Amino acid sequence: VTIHDQKLHRGAGGELHQVSEDGHDILTTAQGGPVADDQNTLRVGARGPALMEDFHFREKIFHFDHERIPERVVHARGYGAHGFFETYEPLTDITRADIFQRAGEKTPVFVRFSTVAGNKGSFDLARDVRGFAVKMYTKEGNWDLVGNNIPVFFIQDAIRFPDLVHAVKQEPDRAFPQAQTAHDNFWDFISLTPESMNMIMWIMSDRTIPRSFRFMEGFGVHTFRFVNADDQSTFVKFHWKPKLGLQSVAWNEAVKINGADPDFHRRDLWQSIQSGNFPEWELCVQLFDQDFADNFDFDVLDATKIIPEEVLPVRPIGRLVLDRMPDNFFAETEQVAFMTQNVPPGIDFSNDPLLQGRNFSYLDTQLKRLGGPNFTHLPINAPKCPFHTFQQDGHMAMRNPVGRVNYQPNSFNQGPRESPVKGYRHFPAEEQGAKVRLRSESFADHYSQARQFFISQTPPEQRHIAMALTFELSKVETPVIRERMVSHLMNIDETLATTVAEKLGFQSMPEPAEAAVPTRQDLEPSPALSIVGR
Ligand code: HEM
Repeated sequence: VTIHDQKLHRGAGGELHQVSEDGHDILTTAQGGPVADDQNTLRVGARGPALMEDFHFREKIFHFDHERIPERVVHARGYGAHGFFETYEPLTDITRADIFQRAGEKTPVFVRFSTVAGNKGSFDLARDVRGFAVKMYTKEGNWDLVGNNIPVFFIQDAIRFPDLVHAVKQEPDRAFPQAQTAHDNFWDFISLTPESMNMIMWIMSDRTIPRSFRFMEGFGVHTFRFVNADDQSTFVKFHWKPKLGLQSVAWNEAVKINGADPDFHRRDLWQSIQSGNFPEWELCVQLFDQDFADNFDFDVLDATKIIPEEVLPVRPIGRLVLDRMPDNFFAETEQVAFMTQNVPPGIDFSNDPLLQGRNFSYLDTQLKRLGGPNFTHLPINAPKCPFHTFQQDGHMAMRNPVGRVNYQPNSFNQGPRESPVKGYRHFPAEEQGAKVRLRSESFADHYSQARQFFISQTPPEQRHIAMALTFELSKVETPVIRERMVSHLMNIDETLATTVAEKLGFQSMPEPAEAAVPTRQDLEPSPALSIVGR
């Protein structure tokens, strides 16, 4: 519009503001001051020294200097998208979680896929685990299901996580490799950690490097609890099943793709969503009770084990559709803060010692990474339901309590109050025992499921596992580490062990690794026992 011969723009809120001589919004400083010249610093004469007085220059450079925040300590390289979760049917009998009370209910979500070991600028098709983190903005607060594309994990207890991650990532003196598993430190730690053998079979297999995020499964990994309105608990394991099916690339393809296009996965997600080809997953659950847990061959609190789908079929309970890319990668994908402890009423934790540790780690790391306690004020992290706290102040506070009263109880009848009925009630699991640092004996069989996984693979897939192990271990320079690994493989599958040993040039086979308990490998495996749906 033109008023008094002045060109004005009408902003989104209806407000009028000035436009530049050629009709654009006027460039301003962060304080709103209009800028006349953004190309030249203020100086004494055309060739003289720059002046401190140039507030526009100093503000522009100051802000640029502070653009970087620490990358995530793990899962630094990631790519996200918005979408929705749609509930298939009410699950009122098993959980009071509002998200599962109404068929057809749509809940907004943000998903971030990631690799684990590589730095932010590394390539997409590394031989690595993929993160599959989902933030569901439910009407009772955010539910973060922070999972991976592999249903088991390397370690059983969170206290080992810093050592695992140090060993996985680049070696500290030489700062390489940046995104590969193939190096001495990684295989040293693994060879000294027999509990990782099941995960190693998965990660050396063809399932590991997805063709695209759209063809990738996701798993909550741990046993969680659903809790209904009568405070009854059902154990639950979560699975995301891609509508397009599971597809991977082989290692030789991955190496070429990484060279040609290190952004292969993010480009694929961007292009498919931008062209209206929205990827979709079903959320499936394995539900079981205490009796099942007590009688299952492995401990359901041990994150290095799965419950095979043949033993406990999965039940689809909803679908996830990703239909919108972020407007800004940094504001959304970088600043999103997933935390396993974000659960709404009706979803609770098990005593899995890995999960219990994660529940501390994520909140703690966000404080550092996102620069203070107010990262929940960022739009990507804020709940989309009404929320009221008495939290105040701190760096970058954008939501402070309004009015005089910032505490409760108070005599002024102001501010929010607890609700014993609608609020989160922790499942009152009965616990007793001595205070000890002790791993349960029920966690001690490290080889049986690794073996089950290996024999569930087709012959070409088994060959690929042998090739992957040979390639990886051929990069290991310390002989004792190679030998220790082969001695573990002897407990998984003898043919696998001898194939790898021969290819590595072993003159003789080492003794099988000592197993903490007799493994279940002598039991006749069911030929149909594939580990998850194929
Ligand atoms: C990040 C999954 C174990 C600490 C992540 C992310 C995923 C994930 C998907 C990336 C989140 C994102 O996209 O922003 C898992 C799974 C685990 C596991 C499935 C085991 C089953 C652990 C353990 C710890 C841990 C045991 C620590 C005790 C972290 C930290 C981050 C992270 C500190 C970085 C978070 C950030 O800066 O945003 N994890 N993780 N994780 N995880 Fe885990």
